[in-house]
Amino acid sequence: MTSAVAHAFNPPQLEAANLLNLVIVDDERAIRDVCREVAQSLGFNTMVAESAEHTYRLIDSQPIDVVLLDLKLPGAGGLEALHKIKQRRPDAEIVVVTGYATVQSAVQAMKNGAYDYVTKPFTIDELKLLLERVAAHLRLKTENRMLREKIKSKLGFGSIVGHAPEMERLYRMIAKAAVSSHPVLILGESGTGKEIVARSIHFSGPFRDKPFIPVDCGSLVPTLIESELFGYVKGAFTGAVQAKEGLLAMAEGGTVFLDEIGELPVDLQAKLLRAIQEKEIRQVGSTKRTTINVRILAATNRDLEVAVAQGTFRRDLYFRLNVLNLRIPALRERRQDIPVLAMYFLERMAREFGQPRTLSDDAVKALLAYDWPGNVRELENCLHRACAMNSGPEIQVADLPGPITGRSSTTVVDGDGSDKIIPISELERKTILNTITQLNGDKLLAARLLGIGKTTLYRKLKEYEIQA
Ligand SMILES: Nc1ncnc2c1ncn2[C@@H]1O[C@H](COP(=O)(O)OP(=O)(O)OP(=O)(O)O)[C@@H](O)[C@H]1O
Ligand SMILES: [Mg+2]
Repeated sequence: MTSAVAHAFNPPQLEAANLLNLVIVDDERAIRDVCREVAQSLGFNTMVAESAEHTYRLIDSQPIDVVLLDLKLPGAGGLEALHKIKQRRPDAEIVVVTGYATVQSAVQAMKNGAYDYVTKPFTIDELKLLLERVAAHLRLKTENRMLREKIKSKLGFGSIVGHAPEMERLYRMIAKAAVSSHPVLILGESGTGKEIVARSIHFSGPFRDKPFIPVDCGSLVPTLIESELFGYVKGAFTGAVQAKEGLLAMAEGGTVFLDEIGELPVDLQAKLLRAIQEKEIRQVGSTKRTTINVRILAATNRDLEVAVAQGTFRRDLYFRLNVLNLRIPALRERRQDIPVLAMYFLERMAREFGQPRTLSDDAVKALLAYDWPGNVRELENCLHRACAMNSGPEIQVADLPGPITGRSSTTVVDGDGSDKIIPISELERKTILNTITQLNGDKLLAARLLGIGKTTLYRKLKEYEIQA
């Protein structure tokens, strides 16, 4: 689950629907309005869409937990929309709305992964019950996840693999960082493991029983970040029918992990700095300040010093966050960990799918020779793909993706085939564009196949001004 909020380990005492993001998809305005009112009264953060296309755009740009989907949509059929939403957000729960005459399609929708359905016309009470049920279900899912995280954390650094001297040094720093309460800035290229390092710091520290709340500053819509982080009071803006606690307050006693901190808009950087310095926050729409007690961990794959020099990142905030600084080495800087990590991922897959696999010597050599620009995440994806390509017990070089074995990649097509020198950024832009086009716009899958995180992909789309 990658939405900024869906990651969050909400303390169980929260309102059922608090912080859950719901999209209402219906082409009839009156229905959208009623659903919105009911959902907001339960504490949902609501968004509306009148078509399938509009829904995809919302889903691609916002964290979404629940979709209320009318199966009778103009254009794309409801079932097709259901399929596409599930593809983009496998963790989101979808409730379908259908007419009495077409209950059959609701049954089909449930078979295709919908959580539940409601038939039109429905009463407000029916809708309320249904939404409350989804909210309770999502909360349970989150709690289970939190339990699993806790169990994992008992293994210490069990989930971080690697014996290279740089990694041993990193483990010592994590252990030190875990017992301190200062902010930590975690640096590393995309896919090096910044998030698992942040989790290790929290879950091996004294406040491991308190919440760990990751906030993906890169995937949140800038205008929403402030209200997500600081919360808001009732009536703070249109749609704020109920006060909402911010993530900084929710993490009370625990940790907030600000991922992709380099993407935080400058005005919010000032507000965040104040919150860290004064240990106080002010909810949007309120004049009252409340004290907070949270540990801040931040991560970025950008060079913040450059951003500071360019004036896009505040120097004072940079110094504040940089009290402790952990740099995770790129995978190509610790090649001896490549086979170790590869075996770890294969064992994990064997446990999951019940089919043990090893690597041929030549395959190991190929993995060792490759530069891994997408780091550990790319290695993990590469092995997933290799396992999918191979049904035997040993993975061969031929099962590895083209770029790793030096075979030409099919995704990069350079126009005229001449020997002219092409800037790497141009190759990257083309690769991204081609991949997304080949996958019919499926950005989540594109990010996976390209071996980069979703947020990294969105940042690059912005950077290269790709309208995909
Ligand atoms: N040392 C490691 N041992 C085991 N798994 C790892 C290690 N490093 C990374 N991973 C795995 O690789 C994937 C990427 O890690 P993570 O999400 O923490 O990276 P990241 O630096 O936050 O990437 P991004 O910048 O793309 O968000 C995850 O599935 C993680 O579990
Ligand atoms: Mg990350």
